[in-house]
Amino acid sequence: MLESTGTEIESSGRLGAILGVSVPETHRQMYAEAKQFADEVLIPAADLHDREESFPESQVNALAEKGFLGILAPEQYGGMGLDNLALTLALEEINRGCASTGVTLSVHNSLLSSPLLHFGTEEQKERFFPGLASGKSLGAYAITEPDHGSDALSIETTCRKEGDEWILNGTKAWITNGSRAGTIITFATMDPALRSKGINAFVVDPSMPGFSVGKKELKLGIRGSDTVQLVFDEMRVPAANLLGEEGQGFKIAMHTLDGGRVGIATQAVGIAQACLDAAVEFAEGHEMFGRRLADNQLVSHKIADMATRIEASRLLTLRAAMLKDAGAPHSRQASMAKLSASEIANDAARMALEIHGGAGIGRQSPIERLFRDAKICEIYEGTSQIQRLVIARHVRPDRS
Ligand code: CAA
Repeated sequence: MLESTGTEIESSGRLGAILGVSVPETHRQMYAEAKQFADEVLIPAADLHDREESFPESQVNALAEKGFLGILAPEQYGGMGLDNLALTLALEEINRGCASTGVTLSVHNSLLSSPLLHFGTEEQKERFFPGLASGKSLGAYAITEPDHGSDALSIETTCRKEGDEWILNGTKAWITNGSRAGTIITFATMDPALRSKGINAFVVDPSMPGFSVGKKELKLGIRGSDTVQLVFDEMRVPAANLLGEEGQGFKIAMHTLDGGRVGIATQAVGIAQACLDAAVEFAEGHEMFGRRLADNQLVSHKIADMATRIEASRLLTLRAAMLKDAGAPHSRQASMAKLSASEIANDAARMALEIHGGAGIGRQSPIERLFRDAKICEIYEGTSQIQRLVIARHVRPDRS
């Protein structure tokens, strides 16, 4: 946890965003390690994984060896036992390097480890955390269905109880890490008429009979990540795998997505920063009409706008992570962070592309990939329209 001492004030660099807060050494090391890994390993391979739509396996394995798949997992189960601030600092750098690797880690940590930590029994933690923390078992979160994305309350996957088991039937769609996962949190309804009170959350092991992986989803961006459909056909899940109480599943889903949205906000900040870095490098290295592009006022204003909005989104994101760490309500702040960061990621990609001109639409610069990756941030883990809906529901007149 952070100490709000204000004794160690940073004024520059990424850590400078957390003005007035002492950043622990563990977090600094993790940030530095993620930054080095992004520069040396992720950036050189990101275009290839995008072009080939291939999973960045060696990168994810290397990050697992560094402990990055166990950032939130308790130390007693082999994890690092760190917080969402540490996760956010690391994930921004990883996403700056490769958004496909970034979402793989984000889903694993925010959408699997986090709800297991909050809602799991001791027995479930003992059973699932060692594999998740070491990276032997990748995590996935399966709520979306072919006909139900934004309207998560209307899921049709069913669960019925028979003795000590639940029987699951249904299809999930657009599931990140789905075909590679060793542990999946999924959601099913006991009775659609019960609406939110009828939904259960389960931690399932995909090696159980009745589970299969469906079609691979081909995507506009973040093309290296594993995205598939999952099919539950009379899958028998032990009652001991119910996460939380019967009927608590929808609240678990929403609480988990609040944290997941901080993860995607972080991803969007990382993508936006990559766009800014590329734009500055290009503008400083190219001349037009007899002077450096960077000295052209139109270009320098674009760079100033990008830098300012990225910093604002980074602050919103770090604040949401710190509220989550403090156990405080953070739905509104997480949605604001995701909305703001995914919008600047798209605007930064557009502005960086305009600064690059023709070079920006070619494969020789990373801008074309970043442009496509940024769009996905406005869609998954709740579209921008859903974020606005969540924010508006939380806005109350300030009568102070
Ligand atoms: N925490 C805890 N409980 C919450 C909550 C939260 N943040 N938000 C809502 N709830 C509770 C409500 O209190 C309510 O409880 P009661 O029934 O006891 O009153 C219940 O949940 C139902 O809530 P609402 O009435 O607000 O439900 P709604 O249908 O009007 O709206 C929604 C819900 C916000 C639109 C929600 O459906 C939503 O977030 N949709 C978007 C889904 C989404 O983000 N999907 C992303 C998929 S994951 C993904 O993309 C992962 C990946 O692989 C990258």
